[in-house]
Amino acid sequence: MPQIKFLTLARHIIEEERKYPEATGELSNLLHDLSLAAKVISLEVNKAGLVDIIGFTGDNNVHGEQVKKLDMFAHDMMVRAMDHGGHLCVMASEEEEDVIHIPSEFNIGKYVLLFDPLDGSSNIDANVSIGTIFSIYRRVSPEDGAGTMEDCLQFGHEQVAAGYVIYGSSTMLVYTAGSGVHGFTLDPAFGEFVRSHKNITTPKKSKIYSINEGNYLYWHPGLKKYIKYLQEEDKESGRPYTSRYIGSMVADIHRNLLYGGIFMYPADSRNPNGKLRLMYECNPMAFIIEQAGGKASDGKNRILDIQPEKLHQRVPVYIGSEEDVKMVESFLAKEEVESAK
Ligand code: AHG
Ligand code: MN
Ligand code: MN
Repeated sequence: MPQIKFLTLARHIIEEERKYPEATGELSNLLHDLSLAAKVISLEVNKAGLVDIIGFTGDNNVHGEQVKKLDMFAHDMMVRAMDHGGHLCVMASEEEEDVIHIPSEFNIGKYVLLFDPLDGSSNIDANVSIGTIFSIYRRVSPEDGAGTMEDCLQFGHEQVAAGYVIYGSSTMLVYTAGSGVHGFTLDPAFGEFVRSHKNITTPKKSKIYSINEGNYLYWHPGLKKYIKYLQEEDKESGRPYTSRYIGSMVADIHRNLLYGGIFMYPADSRNPNGKLRLMYECNPMAFIIEQAGGKASDGKNRILDIQPEKLHQRVPVYIGSEEDVKMVESFLAKEEVESAK
C-alpha cells in the first residue's frame, strides 16, 4: 500500500512558503496563530455539552440576533490569539459592530483579518457541525498607523488567504492561499492538524442542492422554477437531485465541496439582500470554492467582484459546482426577461 505523506499544517505552510522566495513568512505565522485559535475553540466546542456554556448570554449581536456564549467565546479567542502576533493591522468580526484595532502595546503588521467566529451557532445545542470562517487581506492604508475601515472593505478578489474550521465528527481546517485548497484534520491525540485532503477539487456538476425550502413562498419566481426543475426526473441530466441542508453554512459548503453540490441563500421578498454576510461568510467561501474549481455568484455577478459598502453587508449567494451555479443564474435571468415583457 502506498504510504501517504505525513504532513502537519505547520510543515505544509513552510513548504508552501518555500515556493515563493520573496515571502517573508508573515502570512505563515498568521496562519499558524489561527490554527492555534482553532484548536482552543475546537476543545471548547467539544465540551459544550459538559460545562455551563450552552444557552444565551441574553445580549443581541449587531444583527439583532441572540448571541450564545460559545459565539462570544470563539470571538474572544480569535481576538486574543491574533492581536499580538505583529502580523495584523486591524480585524473585524461578525460579532462586533466596528473594526477591531490592534492594542497600542503590540506591533502592527501588514495583514487584515475578517472572521465569523462561530458559524451555524443555532445548531450548537443539537450537537450539529458548526465552524469558524476567516478571510485575510493585505493592508492598503499607509503603513505607519493603525489599520482602517478601508483595509477591511476590499473586494473579495483581493483576498490573500481564506479558510474555515469545521467542528464536526472530527475537526478540520480547510484553507487556500491562492494555490489550491488544502484540508487538515486535527488529531485529538497529539493536537496537530495533519494534512488529510491534498488539493481539493469540487465536481463541475453535482446531484445535491442545499437551501432552506421553508422560505419557498418568498422566493423569486426564477428560483422556484429552478428548484422544481431539480426535482423533476430526467436521467440524462442526472435529475432529480437530492436535497441536503444542515443550516450551518460551513458544514453545508464543506460537504458540497467534497461531493459536489450547490448551496443557496437567496434574496427573497422578506430579505432583499439574503441573510449571509459578504465579508465574513460569502467572500472567504467564494475564494475557496473558486480555488477548488467551483463558482460563486449573487445570482448575476461574481461574489468576489462585489464592491463592499459596509462591514456587515449581506448578499444573496449561489455557490458550488460550476454548472449548477450557471444553471440557477440562467433561471433567474430568464424569469427577469419574462417579467419585463
Ligand atoms: P451564524 O451562526 O454565523 O449567524 O450563521 C448562520 C447562517 C449560516 O451558517 C446558515 O447557512 C444560515 O445562517 C442558516 O439560516 P436559516 O436558518 O435561515 O436557514
Ligand atoms: Mn455565519
Ligand atoms: Mn457567526
